[in-house]
Amino acid sequence: MTGAPSAPERRLVAANWKMHLLRAEAIAFCRGLGELLPKDAAPAAIFPGFPLLPAVAAELAGSFVAVGAQDIHPDDQGAHTGDVSGPQIADAGATWVLCGHSERRRDHAESDERVGRKVAAAFRNRLSPLLCVGETREERRAGHTFEVLARQLEGALAQGANRSLAASGAPRFALAYEPVWAIGTGEVATPETASEAHVFLRDELSRQLGAAAAGTVPLLYGGSVAPENAPALAVSREVDGFLVGGASLDLGRFLSIISAFGRATT
Ligand code: PGA
Repeated sequence: MTGAPSAPERRLVAANWKMHLLRAEAIAFCRGLGELLPKDAAPAAIFPGFPLLPAVAAELAGSFVAVGAQDIHPDDQGAHTGDVSGPQIADAGATWVLCGHSERRRDHAESDERVGRKVAAAFRNRLSPLLCVGETREERRAGHTFEVLARQLEGALAQGANRSLAASGAPRFALAYEPVWAIGTGEVATPETASEAHVFLRDELSRQLGAAAAGTVPLLYGGSVAPENAPALAVSREVDGFLVGGASLDLGRFLSIISAFGRATT
């Protein structure tokens, strides 16, 4: 579990701002990040709400902090009031997109099949999908964790993700293990629990994508990550990075979480 840290080329620390922050706050955060983030820090990405994408992308242009959307419609255009398409996301300056976050699965009844179509839409539009999977507390208690993770991953990759990843110059693909019981609850998974799920997911990725493609995929942990618990999780060889919700809204706390990987490599 612990020992050598994870592969540096798979590092990624992502901020999921959810439905928070206004434009001026987002711009101030990005300026501060640009000033304070050390050059040798782990690569980072910010996922702001849709209306903030152009401003955040403009602020972070030329930096090594990427920008992503929090959702994508499976179709590239059409009569879908309130939804946002891959071409619109790319046009706004984003290069990543979250797919299958548990809050969208819950609030919008997103099925594994629909998440798979979203992953395919991301690849089609040269956006890098960051896929979220994770079990509920009931599923964990019933001993169904691995079954749920396998089903969610298989559904998300069912629409040709392996071909998209194999294509030359294809966007990246990242996976976040986000146990639903840990999201926004303050109840973080222990390093042992996170590592066990990550080992399982890495094996599943190899089975579904082939070992070479699976080896390039950053495998992030998400769910109540904070400066206090990040260092213990970051030393695990299985944890390549974090997807951070609440603690990513505070610049100082987010910087401190990113630095957990700096410390893990030295
Ligand atoms: P949290 O959210 O860090 O606030 O638990 C994580 C997420 O939902 O991605």
